[in-house]
Amino acid sequence: MAQVTPETLVEVRDLHLAFRNRGEPFWVLQGISLTVPEGGFVAVLGPSGCGKSTLLRVLAGLLPPSWGEVRFAGRPLRGPHPDIGLVFQEANLLPWRTVLGNIALPLELRGLPRAQILAQARAMVRLIGLEGFEHTLPRDLSGGMAQRVALARALIYRPRLLLLDEPFASLDALTREQMWGELLRLWHHTRVAVVMVTHSITEALFLADRICVLSPRPARIRLCFDVPLPRPRTEDLRYTPEFGALARRVREAIGAAAPTRADIPPQPEHPPAR
Ligand SMILES: Nc1ncnc2c1ncn2[C@@H]1O[C@H](COP(=O)(O)OP(=O)(O)OP(=O)(O)O)[C@@H](O)[C@H]1O
Ligand SMILES: [Mg+2]
Repeated sequence: MAQVTPETLVEVRDLHLAFRNRGEPFWVLQGISLTVPEGGFVAVLGPSGCGKSTLLRVLAGLLPPSWGEVRFAGRPLRGPHPDIGLVFQEANLLPWRTVLGNIALPLELRGLPRAQILAQARAMVRLIGLEGFEHTLPRDLSGGMAQRVALARALIYRPRLLLLDEPFASLDALTREQMWGELLRLWHHTRVAVVMVTHSITEALFLADRICVLSPRPARIRLCFDVPLPRPRTEDLRYTPEFGALARRVREAIGAAAPTRADIPPQPEHPPAR
């Protein structure tokens, strides 16, 4: 079972990020600091449009910080990294490739020997429970199956960090709950660290070691706490007063009033030379 170790895999220090809008900075992230332990599971919540996906893109090395720093495995993150996998809300599978072909794609792009690619892809198919569907095309998969393939494709590199942006948002409620079990199984098996953006408080409490709630844009950390619930987290746990109290705490943090102009500290107009 994946245990949170004291070793820090990701360290975000005073992260600020602005997009440019007709030359003017449009501040999305402001003074975000957080850590992700090796093998840990962090859920990020916050109101719509606050900057959650932007934060994930920074953690993926796809957007450079305007200010502050992201460190991955002890080094500054300067761009996309082979040890970081990313899965979005939509599975984004290649429609002309089979399940096996989609899962194998990252290894093909790396130019590994054919036999090794097949062996690893087949092992991933077993891990996500899709044996018998190796040669099925994405159009013939259910939403949950397609999302499992997307997870397998992200995990085949054996990344140390898996970034998930609302990966189950397009699934119906029951399938979504099944996927929680699937994801926890994959997490235990691979010991990958996970940062997952979600709108579901129940999902966050059910899955995560740590929950961070962002404020409305420009996003700052409003609340970050370790989830004091034992594992394995069973269905019954969701109906306990303890679960209810934690859910309320998160709900209140998400719903709290937006910061006023006076709350927002002066913003660096030009990022410092790095
Ligand atoms: N490439 C971009 N250029 C300019 N503005 C952007 C860009 N990407 C995102 N934004 C803006 O940044 C803000 C935060 O967007 P982001 O997608 O990070 O929010 P979110 O918290 O993920 O929202 P949701 O919960 O709806 O997915 C929004 O106002 C959005 O319009
Ligand atoms: Mg988003």
